Order: sequence, then C-alpha cells, then structure tokens
Amino acid sequence: MPRRFADKVALIAGGTGGLGRAVTMAFLEEGASVIVPYRRQPEMDSLTRFAGDLRSQLHGYFADLADDSAASDFIGNLLGAEGRLDVVVNAVGAYAGGAKLWQTDAAEFDRMLAVNLRAGFALLHAALPPLVKRGGGVIINVASRAALDHSGAAAGYVASKAAAVAMIDSLAADLKGTGVRANSILPGIIDTEANRRAMPTADFAKWPKPEAIARIILFLCSDEAALINGAAIPVYGDA
Ligand SMILES: NC(=O)c1ccc[n+]([C@@H]2O[C@H](COP(=O)([O-])OP(=O)(O)OC[C@H]3O[C@@H](n4cnc5c(N)ncnc54)[C@H](OP(=O)(O)O)[C@@H]3O)[C@@H](O)[C@H]2O)c1
Repeated sequence: MPRRFADKVALIAGGTGGLGRAVTMAFLEEGASVIVPYRRQPEMDSLTRFAGDLRSQLHGYFADLADDSAASDFIGNLLGAEGRLDVVVNAVGAYAGGAKLWQTDAAEFDRMLAVNLRAGFALLHAALPPLVKRGGGVIINVASRAALDHSGAAAGYVASKAAAVAMIDSLAADLKGTGVRANSILPGIIDTEANRRAMPTADFAKWPKPEAIARIILFLCSDEAALINGAAIPVYGDA
C-alpha cells in the first residue's frame, strides 16, 4: 500500500456517509490524518469503530456545515489543533426526488440547494484562505451525474448539483497560480447500503463501489494529478 498522504491532513466532509466512509478509510490507509465534521455522534462512533487500528489518525469534530459560523469555527479549530490542512473532500449531500417541479415543496427545493451547494460554499469559504496563503492543497467536490443528465422529477437535486459543478469550475479559475487545485467528480448510483435498501431489486453489480470511487479521489488529490484543475470527472463506469 503506498503512503502518498503520510504527514498530510485531509478533511472529509460527509465522512460518515456511504461514500465518505470509504474515502476516509482510503486516506487513513495511505497515512493521512483525517478530520471528519459530524452532526450525529452515533455516526461518528460507527466510523471510528470501522477505522479499527487506524482510529488514532481519525479526528471527529461536531459541526453542522449548513451553519456558516459553525463551518468557520470548525476550520479555525481544525487548524488550531492540526496546524495544517492539505486536502478538502466535500462528500456532504442529500437526494430528494419523485415529484415534478410544480409539485415540489419549496422547502424541499431549498434543502437541496442548502445541502448540495450552500454547505460546500461555506466549507470552502472558510477552508481556502489558509490553503491559498500556504500555496498548496487540493479540493474535491462530490457532485453527481445528475449535474449533466437532467432527469425529471428531481429539479432541486439536479439544479443544486449542476450549480455545484459550476461553482467549482469558477473556483478552479480563481485558484490558477495559487498552487491549490479544485475538481468535481460525478458519480451515478453508488453501491451503498442505503441504495441497496432503497432499490432492493436492482442489479447491484452495475453500481460502482464506494472504494473504487475513493481510489479515484485519492489519485486526484495526489501529486500525480498535479495537472488536473477544473475538471468534472464522470465516475459511473458502464452504468
Ligand atoms: N449514493 C449515491 O448513489 C450518489 C450518487 C451520486 C452522487 N452522490 C453524492 O455523493 C455524496 C455522498 O453520497 P452518500 O451516498 O455517501 O450520502 P450519505 O450516505 O447520505 O452521506 C452524506 C453525508 O453528508 C453529511 N451531511 C449532510 N448534511 C450535513 C451538514 N449540514 N453538515 C455536516 N454533514 C452533513 C451526512 O451526515 P449526517 O449523518 O449528519 O446526515 C453524511 O455524512 C453526496 O454529495 C451525494 O449527493 C451520491
């Protein structure tokens, strides 16, 4: 196992989730200190148990990223404790669908924008100044295939993910010459426990595994990907 991230600090927002857990494990296995903001203690406890012998490299911080001041305080506390930050992966997200636009509850539309777009803005708004000042770091935002393939009955989700890709593309332009890079990845349906529960009759074999997507994220965060900035990379295999 290579240890490309020994001595690095990786912030995995959404690190307790179905994809985030695999990303957290992949960074731990390659030597990183991994910081996970969490809202629910049992989820963090479960991730810590899952980390097994690597748990000493894992640090959870209670933070609701939907709250701007909580996101800012979280980054301040993280920098105070760790002294540095090298990687930010935003795997925070939620899905709501099933209703046509005119049947969609406005509050549900706003929730999609809040969790899939606004939380990422708050996180990056707080996290980027120290990275830019130091002249190094990598940002990965987990968007969705839905940012490109605009299916019906998901206006809020599709709009929030498309906007998130545009935001990261604009950020990548802002970052030119700073030594910091920002890219999006676009998963289709991932083989998570939640998706298996929600779609029990689906062919799970067609769904990419979280661990496979995590390996791509690690590549994008590694020095081998130093030339990649402003990309939105499909990660849905044959699906
Ligand atoms: N699963 C898929 O098939 C799929 C497909 C395409 C794209 N994606 C995208 O991939 C990403 C990860 O998906 P997933 O399946 O791993 O989702 P998930 O299991 O629901 O995980 C989402 C994570 O985000 C956290 N979170 C949500 N709101 C938060 C907030 N305000 N502050 C802090 N943390 C918050 C959740 O923590 P809590 O426990 O506190 O809620 C959880 O850790 C998302 O952006 C999703 O849209 C997923």
